Amino acid sequence: MLFRAPVFLGLAGPAFGSVLVRRQASSLDSCPGYAASNVQDDGARVMADLTLAEPPCNVYGEDLTDLKLEVEYQSESRLHVKIYDAEEQIYQVSESVFPRPSSEDVDPSDSALAFSWTESPFSFAVTRKSTNETLFDSSAASLVFESQYLRLRTGLPDSPHLYGLGEHTDPFQLNTTNYTRTLWNRDAYGTPNGTNLYGDHPIYFDHRGSSGTHGVFLLNSNGMDIRIDNTDGQYLEYNALGGIIDLYFLAGPTPKDVSVQYAEVAGTPVMQPYWGFGFHQCKYGYRDVFMVAEVVANYSQANIPLETMWTDIDYMDLRRVFTLDPERFPLHMVRELVDYLHAHQQHYVVMVDPAVAALDYEAYNNGVDLDIFQKNPNGSIYTGVVWPGPTVFPDWFHPSTQQYWNNEFLQFFDPETGVDIDALWIDMNEPANFCPYPCADPQGFAEEAGNPPEPPPVRNNSGRIIPGFPADFQPPGQSKRSLHARHSDRGDTPTGLPGRDLINPQYEIHNAAGSISNLTLPTDIQNYDGTHQYDTHNLYGLMMSIASRNALLARRPNRRPLIITRSTFAGAGSHVGKWLGDNLSIWDHYRISIANILEFAALFQLPMVGADVCGFGNNATEPLCARWATLGAFYPFYRNHAGLDSIQQEFYIWPTVAEAARNAISVRYRLLDYIYTHLHRQSTSGLPMLNPLFFHYPEDENAFAIQHQFFYGDDVLVSPVTEENGTDVSIYLPNEIFYDYWTHERIQGSGSWIQLTDIPFTSIPLHIRGGSIIPLRAESANTTTELRKQDFVIWIAPNASNQAVGSLYLDEGDALVQDATSEINFSYDNGLFKMTGTFGYQTDAAIKNITVLGGNASGNETQQYEQSSRASAIQGPISLNGEYSHSF
Ligand SMILES: *[C@@H]1O[C@H](CO)[C@@H](O)[C@H](O)[C@H]1NC(C)=O
Ligand SMILES: *[C@@H]1O[C@H](CO)[C@@H](O)[C@H](O)[C@H]1NC(C)=O
Ligand SMILES: *[C@@H]1O[C@H](CO)[C@@H](O)[C@H](O)[C@H]1NC(C)=O
Ligand SMILES: *[C@@H]1O[C@H](CO)[C@@H](O)[C@H](O)[C@H]1NC(C)=O
Ligand SMILES: *[C@@H]1O[C@H](CO)[C@@H](O)[C@H](O)[C@H]1NC(C)=O
Ligand SMILES: *[C@@H]1O[C@H](CO)[C@@H](O)[C@H](O)[C@H]1NC(C)=O
Ligand SMILES: *[C@@H]1O[C@H](CO)[C@@H](O)[C@H](O)[C@H]1NC(C)=O
Ligand SMILES: *[C@@H]1O[C@H](CO)[C@@H](O)[C@H](O)[C@H]1NC(C)=O
Ligand SMILES: *[C@@H]1O[C@H](CO)[C@@H](O)[C@H](O)[C@H]1NC(C)=O
Repeated sequence: MLFRAPVFLGLAGPAFGSVLVRRQASSLDSCPGYAASNVQDDGARVMADLTLAEPPCNVYGEDLTDLKLEVEYQSESRLHVKIYDAEEQIYQVSESVFPRPSSEDVDPSDSALAFSWTESPFSFAVTRKSTNETLFDSSAASLVFESQYLRLRTGLPDSPHLYGLGEHTDPFQLNTTNYTRTLWNRDAYGTPNGTNLYGDHPIYFDHRGSSGTHGVFLLNSNGMDIRIDNTDGQYLEYNALGGIIDLYFLAGPTPKDVSVQYAEVAGTPVMQPYWGFGFHQCKYGYRDVFMVAEVVANYSQANIPLETMWTDIDYMDLRRVFTLDPERFPLHMVRELVDYLHAHQQHYVVMVDPAVAALDYEAYNNGVDLDIFQKNPNGSIYTGVVWPGPTVFPDWFHPSTQQYWNNEFLQFFDPETGVDIDALWIDMNEPANFCPYPCADPQGFAEEAGNPPEPPPVRNNSGRIIPGFPADFQPPGQSKRSLHARHSDRGDTPTGLPGRDLINPQYEIHNAAGSISNLTLPTDIQNYDGTHQYDTHNLYGLMMSIASRNALLARRPNRRPLIITRSTFAGAGSHVGKWLGDNLSIWDHYRISIANILEFAALFQLPMVGADVCGFGNNATEPLCARWATLGAFYPFYRNHAGLDSIQQEFYIWPTVAEAARNAISVRYRLLDYIYTHLHRQSTSGLPMLNPLFFHYPEDENAFAIQHQFFYGDDVLVSPVTEENGTDVSIYLPNEIFYDYWTHERIQGSGSWIQLTDIPFTSIPLHIRGGSIIPLRAESANTTTELRKQDFVIWIAPNASNQAVGSLYLDEGDALVQDATSEINFSYDNGLFKMTGTFGYQTDAAIKNITVLGGNASGNETQQYEQSSRASAIQGPISLNGEYSHSF
C-alpha cells in the first residue's frame, strides 16, 4: 500500500501559527532517483553531475534537482564518495570540528576497492578487488535527496555481521531485522535499549569472516535513523534529516585494519596521563567537603588504593557553574582537601556543565559581555533550564567562546587561589535542557521542577575528626566567601539550505525525547557562524570537549589533560575520554558495559572509556558491586560513581567488595604499563587497545557475537561471571594456547566453550594468550606515583611453536611533549629471549626476573621455570635502559 504523506513546502521557522501550503506528495517508492552525466574521470578522482529524474516525489521536503558526485581514491585502502548539492548551500560538518583527512590521490588500479556506477537511474557500488565481493550497492533503492530528507540504501548479504553505529546499549553485533538506530544526542538517563543515547558515531564495521572486514563511515551530523532490515532483501538504509552524503569506505581487510583506517579519518586518540589509569571514586550527593574527605580517609583506612577523588555538582553554589557552595564547600576547605590529596599523590576532579545560570553573577555576566551565548531567532539570549534553574548556553561557534572558557577556567581553577583540579569532567553537553520544547516560561518551569533543588541542611561539624586531616581543619559554615570568577573561522562551510522547517521536519526520526528540539537547544537556534542547531546539534558535546581541552592547556600548558565527557561525536577520542553516562545498578548494565567499552575503544577510536562501576541509578547490591569492581578494573577508565538517591557504594562499604577491589586494583596496577603501552600504540597507530574476540580470530564464527569476553590489550582475555549472583561462567577459548593468569596453568583452547565453576566474588577469570610477553610491575602500590617506582617482572607465554612477542613503552607519564621515551620490544624464540628497541627513557626500575609460563612442556602440564636452576640465571636486576638477551 502506498502511504501518501502530506508535505509542507516553503516553510521557515516554527510551524506554529504559520499558514501551511499543503500538497499531496507521493510515497518514497515513487521517488525517481537521479541520472549521472558529464562524467569527468582523472583516475584518482571521478566527478559527475546528478540530475533529478522526473517527476519529483517531494515526500519529506523538496527534491533537489542538481547534485554533484565526487569520488576520490584517497589511499590504497580508502575510498571517498561524496554526493552534495550543486549550489553548495547544504551544511557539511565544519572542518574546524572534524578536519578532513588528506588524500594521497592514488591510482585506482592501486586501490583495494573499486567504485562503479550506473548512470540512470544513478546508483553506485563499491567492491573489494581481491574477492570481487560487493561491499556496498546503492541500487537497493533509489537515491532520495530532499531539502530535509536523505535516503541511501545498500544491499547486504544475508545475516550480516555488523558493529558500531553508536552510541547504543544494544547487542555488540547489531540486530539485522526490523532494527532502527537513531543518532541524535540525548540526555538518556538509564541508557535504555533501542534508543538514541549521548553520542553520535556513524561508522559501521561489516565483518564477512574469511572474505574480510570493511568499514563505512558517513560524515554527517544531522539527526538520522539507520534502518537495518530484511523485508526486501537484507539492507542498511540511512534516513537523514539533512546534510550531505559523505562516505568513507575503509577496505580492511582485517577488523584491526579497519580500526587503523578509521583512525586515519577520525584522528588517533589522544595520549592520557599515566595516573589517569588509577582508580577513581565519585558520587552525586556528597553533601559537603567533610563527606568527600571522609571517603578519601575511608579508602585509605580500608587499604584500597584511591588515585582520584571526584565531586559532582554538589560543590556548586546552588548548582551554578564556576561557583562553590560557601557553606558546604567553602574555598579554604576545598583547597585544604586538594592540598591533602596532592600531598598523598592523589588527584582531584570536579564536574563542569556547559549551561550557565541566567543570573547576575560573573560567569553569566562575562559571557554576556563577550556576547557568546546562544540566541533565539529574534536575537535575544535563549534561556532553558538545567540544574541551577534558568540557564544560557555557550555558542562554541563564537570566536570569543574559547577566550571566555579559558578565562573562567583560569580564574576558578587557579592553583594559587581557586580549586586546583588535576583533570576535568564535562556533562550535560548533548546539550541537555530540562525544559520541554518550546520552553516558553523557563522561570516558571524551573520553579515547578525544583531547580535548583534545596541543598542539604548544613551540618554541625564541630568536633568531627577526619583521619589524616590537619588539626586546624575548620568546620564549614564559617566562611561566607564564595568563589566566583572575578573577573575563527566564520564561513568555513556552507551554513545550510534556506527555507527549511527547522523545528518540525516532515520525516520524524525515532528520537526517544520526542521532537528534535525537545529537552535540548531548539533546532532553529542559529549559531554565530550562520549554521543552525538543526544541523550542528550532534556536535555540541565534541565542540565543548575541544574548547575544554584548550582551556586546560591554557591553564597547564605542558600537562596532558584528562577530560571525561558524556556527549561525543566521531573524532572525539582525539581530544577527550568518555564515560558511558547514567547507567543503572543492574546486572544487564554490568554485562552490556563490555560491548559499550569495546565499541568506543575498538570501533570509534575513543579508548579512554568506562561505565560507572557498580552502576549510577538504583541501588547496588554486594554481589553486583563485587563483580563490577573486578570487571571495571579492565575498563580503560575505572571509576565508581553512584546517583543522588542511591545508597553509598564505595568499595569499602561491603567486605566482599573491598576484597574484590583490592585484588582487582592490584592486577590492574601491575598491568598498568602494559595497557599504557597499548594506549600509546593506539594513539600513534590506531591499533585498538581493547580487542573484541573476532578482532583476533576474524575467521572463527563462534567469536563474531561474543560480547561478554574481550582482550585487555592484545593478550589478556577477560571473562567475567555474567549471571546475577552467579559463580559459574561458560567462556569461549579460541583455538590457541592460553595460560590461567592466577595459576599459570597452560590450557589448550579448542574453539569451544568451557565451564568455569566456583569463581569467588573477589576474583575474575583472566587468561594470557599464548605467543605473548607481558611486562608487569613486580608489586602493586597505593598510588600510581608509587607504582612507577616498582620493578618489573616479565612473563613469557609461548605459543604452540614456542615463540612469543611483547612490548613496553616508557615515558615520564604526564608531560604533553616527552623529552625521552623507550619503546622496547621483547621476543622469545625456542628458549632465546631478547630485549631490543630504543631506550631513551632512563629508569631505575629494573626487571626483577623473567618467567617462562608453562615452560616448554607439551600437553596440559603446568611447568614453571621459576626457582628452578635454569630460572636462577635470569633473576634480575636486568636494566631497562639497554638491550639484553638470555638463552633459557
Ligand atoms: C574479479 O573480476 C575480474 C573481472 O571480471 C576478474 O578478472 C578477476 O579474476 C576476478 N577476481 C576474483 C578474485 O575472482
Ligand atoms: C518492528 O519494531 C517495531 C518497534 O520495535 C515494532 O513496533 C514492530 O512491531 C516490529 N515489526 C515487526 C514486523 O516485527
Ligand atoms: C536490553 O537488552 C538486553 C540484552 O542486550 C536484554 O537482556 C534486556 O532485557 C533488554 N532490556 C530491555 C528493557 O529491553
Ligand atoms: C534485537 O533482536 C532481539 C532478538 O531478535 C530482540 O529481542 C531485541 O528486542 C532487538 N533489539 C532491538 C533494539 O531491536
Ligand atoms: C602512598 O604511599 C606513599 C609512600 O609511602 C605516601 O607518601 C603516600 O602518602 C601514600 N598515599 C596514599 C594515598 O596512601
Ligand atoms: C518532550 O518530552 C517530554 C518529557 O518526556 C514529553 O512529555 C513531551 O511530550 C515531549 N515533547 C515533545 C514536543 O516531543
Ligand atoms: C535505595 O535505598 C535507599 C535506602 O535504603 C532507599 O531509600 C531507596 O528508595 C532505594 N532506591 C531504589 C531505587 O531502590
Ligand atoms: C542477589 O543477591 C542480592 C544481595 O545479596 C539479593 O538482594 C538478590 O535478591 C539476589 N538475586 C537473586 C536473583 O537471587
Ligand atoms: C619474580 O619476582 C616476583 C615479584 O617480586 C616474585 O613474586 C616471583 O616469585 C619472582 N619469580 C622468580 C622466578 O623469582
